[in-house]
Amino acid sequence: MIRLEGVTRRYGDELAVDDLSLEVAEGEVCVLIGPSGCGKTTTLRMINRLIEPSGGSIMVNGRNVMSMRPEELRRGLGYVIQSIGLFPHLSVERNIGVVPHLLGWDKQRMAERARELLHLVGLDPEVYLGKYPRQLSGGEAQRVGVARALAADPPVLLMDEPFGAVDPLNRERLQAEFARIQRELHKTVLFVTHDIDEAIRLADKVAIMRDGRLQQFASPEEVLNHPANKFVHDFVGADRALKRLVRVRVEDVMRSPAIVQEGSEELAFRVAAGRRRFVYVIDAAGKLVGWMDTADLEPDMDPAEALTRVDPAQASVRSDASLRDALSRMLGLGFRAIAVTDDKCRLVGEVTFAAVEEAMTEGDEHITNIAEEDAG
Ligand SMILES: Nc1ncnc2c1ncn2[C@@H]1O[C@H](COP(=O)(O)OP(=O)(O)OP(=O)(O)O)[C@@H](O)[C@H]1O
Ligand SMILES: [Mg+2]
Repeated sequence: MIRLEGVTRRYGDELAVDDLSLEVAEGEVCVLIGPSGCGKTTTLRMINRLIEPSGGSIMVNGRNVMSMRPEELRRGLGYVIQSIGLFPHLSVERNIGVVPHLLGWDKQRMAERARELLHLVGLDPEVYLGKYPRQLSGGEAQRVGVARALAADPPVLLMDEPFGAVDPLNRERLQAEFARIQRELHKTVLFVTHDIDEAIRLADKVAIMRDGRLQQFASPEEVLNHPANKFVHDFVGADRALKRLVRVRVEDVMRSPAIVQEGSEELAFRVAAGRRRFVYVIDAAGKLVGWMDTADLEPDMDPAEALTRVDPAQASVRSDASLRDALSRMLGLGFRAIAVTDDKCRLVGEVTFAAVEEAMTEGDEHITNIAEEDAG
């Protein structure tokens, strides 16, 4: 879908991008990462022809971009610019509508789309549609920039640090939202970031650059387990085992929990005779109410007394969360297992500390240890 072959960009004697070859397959997210000045933005700008390469070829959708008219090319590419680049004299609504307007959409369709997209990026349309860029914070403007890139539903997205100015909490939410949208829409995405955690979380492929040159182009697992050189090794950082947890979804390792329905807690006695010590209690709709430690149960007590009521939002993780989220929640609560719920707070499973441990060490024996190699 996007293919770069031997792409080079010179500024005077300097090579901002040096012989770069990479391919983003249809429906994949490729994250381009590397230190400041390594050529990430230059690469994106060449793909949509804001600047011309000094050498090499760039194909988008099987066509050489040099043979296309820039306007035609850009209609098929959503571009989130690093410096946001909203038009200061246009309202948020009109900024989002820039490309749909070019494509001749009618007013109502554009208005509906703007509302839908603001919702998607977590901004209340009632508050933000009529605002102007100067009335937005950096993070809000950035989210409007993401909405604008998505407006005409382009198959290819070029995103230059789209969440860079967003606070950690909203960034987390936007990443989750991005991953969810991507699972549905399968866009072809080239995504630039400085944040290795963001890269590992979102990427199908990671391209690591340094001084204009590609250092490694591989899956996140491959980059974590087999860094191509010392630069990549150091860039990824020391906590590779923890980073690996970001790649595993809770629903992939959860097991079925022991459950009783509220009001029938005496059943827990029977469960207690089985192997599980902790029994979850749900209401008639399947919503998590709390849990019982069957070790606390005594034959003459009312079983309901052993019930610890919980707020599902606090005491469970969503099935599409990462194992790292599950681990940090378990550590926060001091539990060795945690309930898994769906978007309606219904109990769907349980993740244990043992399962996290297993995922953390999986494939460990195959890991290339660059530091040791260098020492030897
Ligand atoms: N118009 C220009 N004229 C001269 N040099 C330029 C120009 N634009 C970029 N460069 C140089 O090219 C190199 C790559 O810049 P680029 O903007 O692609 O970096 P980047 O990887 O996006 O960095 P950052 O993470 O800071 O955004 C840098 O050394 C920069 O100084
Ligand atoms: Mg840049």
